[in-house]
Amino acid sequence: MKITIVGTGYVGLVTGACLAEMGNHVLCLDLDASKIRTLQSGDIPIHEPGLLEYVQRNAAAGRLQFTTEVEQAVAHGTLQFIAVGTPPDEDGSADLKHVLAAARSIGRLMADYKVVINKSTVPVGTADKVQQAIDAELAARGVKLPFAVVSNPEFLKEGAAVADFLRPDRVVIGADDERATLLMRSLYAPFVRNRDRIFVMDVRSAELTKYAANAMLATRISFMNELSRLAERVGADIELVRQGVGADPRIGLHFLYAGAGYGGSCFPKDVKALAKSLTAAGVPSRILDAVEAVNESQKHVLAEKVVARMGEDLSGKVFALWGLAFKPNTDDMREAPSRTVIAELARRGARVQAYDPVARDEAAKAMAGQERLSFADSASAALAGADALVIVTEWREFRTPDFAELERALKHKLVFDGRNLYDPKAMAAFGLEYHCIGRPSAAPQTST
Ligand SMILES: NC(=O)c1ccc[n+]([C@@H]2O[C@H](COP(=O)([O-])OP(=O)(O)OC[C@H]3O[C@@H](n4cnc5c(N)ncnc54)[C@H](O)[C@@H]3O)[C@@H](O)[C@H]2O)c1
Repeated sequence: MKITIVGTGYVGLVTGACLAEMGNHVLCLDLDASKIRTLQSGDIPIHEPGLLEYVQRNAAAGRLQFTTEVEQAVAHGTLQFIAVGTPPDEDGSADLKHVLAAARSIGRLMADYKVVINKSTVPVGTADKVQQAIDAELAARGVKLPFAVVSNPEFLKEGAAVADFLRPDRVVIGADDERATLLMRSLYAPFVRNRDRIFVMDVRSAELTKYAANAMLATRISFMNELSRLAERVGADIELVRQGVGADPRIGLHFLYAGAGYGGSCFPKDVKALAKSLTAAGVPSRILDAVEAVNESQKHVLAEKVVARMGEDLSGKVFALWGLAFKPNTDDMREAPSRTVIAELARRGARVQAYDPVARDEAAKAMAGQERLSFADSASAALAGADALVIVTEWREFRTPDFAELERALKHKLVFDGRNLYDPKAMAAFGLEYHCIGRPSAAPQTST
């Protein structure tokens, strides 16, 4: 099939590459000329495991192309995916300006039947607005052309996006139009060959399903983070609690880790947007307001632990910081908890030497002007001259560090771990003072 993807970011690029992999002819549009230049030169502008190979293979086969030309993009695909950003508006609701701009371009330039597919995460009612925007453009042109608007929210996870797209646990298609539904089913059939996981539903239910999924996951995390504070006060271990709770199949073990707060391009904005939708519909948003408030305070928990141990004034102190991206296997810095931690430590006069396996460039952009932040080339190099280590993102390479080196390198033998990577008893045995989340902290066996 001929497919256009409008918006070649994390979602658009993965969608385009994976659809091309199945033999479709895909044209990816973006208004960001530098992104398109990078893609046309055979590279990719983001870090996503496995993606480069898919992009290069399909580009070489002529099935995946990139453009900044809106006219060419609208002409190309019978299926027009909208995968542009939907950032929070000033009041927290989803800002639809990019989605509607894409819709208007399609209405202004289309010359034959189109299926316009909302892949961006958008509130209930957006498909109607897209329909109206296209109708208005067609009316202004004085033409009548057939088209359908479909909701097809995306559930991929950054860091595992290619695998998720190729083997989705579900494909949600919200469509009221039979021809469009058939086209969507054919498009996704290769991805669900072993077991049908396509859920066809009305457009509004599809739109709500995406927000409901993200809000549920965020709720689990905030719930565990709140319990981790109780565990610390009463001398329980949240890790043991997690395993005991998660063993119940009605609950399950996923997304129950206490930590330094959730971040990323989706949970924070989607929780806010769903909360706004609830209040706008006259339903008090009690749960989601609490989920967000708990997360905001949790992003400060690591800095609070540092202050509780080392005092309010951190001037002259140097912190090694491991992990900048909002989660492992991505370079995405949007709403990353590391930003809050670094801002707090810097505000109190400390210097931070940060290391991340891939997010250095994005972090430098996101925290441009933060003079107290510098970047190291390795986890070891970040330790040079540091008083203490703060761990914010659980990259695999941090899971078994050289503990003897940590003990030697850190002036105060202090580790603040926002991801509970280590066994507190083992840390004490290595001569390290270990502060983690929702578990008793451990003092070194040898005094320093
Ligand atoms: N990132 C994720 O993990 C993820 C997962 C599921 C759903 N989503 C949703 O998918 C949508 C896209 O997210 P993303 O992370 O890929 O965003 P992104 O910011 O990485 O990419 C969006 C791209 O759209 C481009 N763009 C904006 N307006 C345009 C226009 N009119 N024409 C062409 N290009 C335009 C931007 O330049 C940018 O490159 C959002 O609604 C998001 O909530 C994201």
